[in-house]
Order: sequence, then C-alpha cells, then structure tokens
Amino acid sequence: MPGSAMPGSTIFIDDNPPESLDSLRARYARLSSRRSPDGTEAWLNWAVRVVCPGNYVGLVQATVTASLSALIAYVMLYAAWGNGYGREAVAAMVEHLLKNCGVSTFCALVDARNQPSIALLRALGFTFDQHRTGAALLHGDVADELEFRLEGAPAPTVTPQGTILSDWHGTKTEH
Ligand SMILES: CC(C)(COP(=O)(O)OP(=O)(O)OC[C@H]1O[C@@H](n2cnc3c(N)ncnc32)[C@H](O)[C@@H]1OP(=O)(O)O)[C@@H](O)C(=O)NCCC(=O)NCCS
Repeated sequence: MPGSAMPGSTIFIDDNPPESLDSLRARYARLSSRRSPDGTEAWLNWAVRVVCPGNYVGLVQATVTASLSALIAYVMLYAAWGNGYGREAVAAMVEHLLKNCGVSTFCALVDARNQPSIALLRALGFTFDQHRTGAALLHGDVADELEFRLEGAPAPTVTPQGTILSDWHGTKTEH
C-alpha cells in the first residue's frame, strides 16, 4: 500500500513502518493464513479502500477467539487521517463480524495518549472498561493501555465518500 512507510501512522502502535515493498508483501502473505499457528483463533485482515477515487487508506484487523469475541486493531495512513475513514472502516468490520460471523463482543486496547483512537471508539459506542498501568510496550518504552469494549452493534456512522473493505482473498464488504 503506497504510503505505508510514512511516519506518523505507527506513533501509538508497537509497529515500525515496513523496510521495503518486499518486506511488506511478505508480511501480508503471512497474515493471509487467516489462522493463528495453533489454529485456535481466526486472524482476519482487510485493506480499506475509498470508493472514489479508489485509493487504499489503511488496514483493519480482528482476532476472533473460539468464544466468538474479537480483539480489533486498525491503522490508517497518516495522510488520510481526519476524514472519517477510520471510523467508517472499523464500523464496517464490526458489523460484518456481527452479522456474518456471530461475533458479539468486541475489545480494543489503546495507548492512553492515543486521542484519535479513543475518539473513534467512543463514536462507535465502545465504552471504557479498564486502565492497565504499564501494560504495553511502545517502541521500547512502557506505556499505559486502556481497554474499550462493545457488546452488539456499533453506533451508526455517516461519511461523505464511503469505504470498501477488501480481505486478502478478494471478498468485499461495502459500507
Ligand atoms: C486511530 C486512527 C485509525 C483514526 O483514523 P482516522 O481515519 O483519522 O479516523 P476518523 O477520521 O474517523 O477520526 C477519528 C477521530 O480522530 C480524530 N483525529 C483524526 N486525526 C487527528 C489528528 N491528527 N489529531 C488529533 N485528532 C485526530 C478525529 O477528529 C476523530 O475524532 P472526533 O470524532 O472527536 O472528531 C488513526 O489515527 C491511526 O491510524 N492512528 C495510528 C494507528 C493507531 O493508533 N491505531 C489504533 C491502535 S488501538
């Protein structure tokens, strides 16, 4: 995805921009297994594409356990922030997992300083569950983490352009 190496997107996640296109391809190939190595969890990933003009703007991910709860994560390219794409894409993923996969409990772990992500979750109806002091490692530093939870459907979202989630196997979820 062009722009993945742009600084900013990984400021609040313990991830580094890819070193090269090949390393990014290799990483996405690993993710496309859709299963944890022990087979107990579904590891689901979607690329987020704007309907018009059709450019890719980010990724949304869900780890679904056997008890049908999902730990979600999401990253938007820095240049695309603030257009409502993150909110819309996460809402589309949650709705998809709810309607098509029977997932009813959603959880997100957020760096306590990550205001954009906290605003996104609150807008979708996620509620604060707990503050975990020093629970996260962020680029080598210990950081506080907040847990947010949602039971059931997300709050409705409206954005002007719309996004499409494309999974690694070509299935599309239009929102
Ligand atoms: C969190 C993230 C996905 C939001 O993506 P987005 O496309 O900007 O989302 P939205 O446009 O729907 O905006 C969500 C909120 O972030 C706010 N926001 C967006 N860009 C911002 C910025 N540069 N500074 C401060 N707030 C910002 C928006 O105003 C909105 O809050 P509001 O509803 O109070 O107005 C994006 O910031 C990101 O990729 N961050 C890095 C990765 C990350 O932190 N992932 C989450 C890990 S839990």
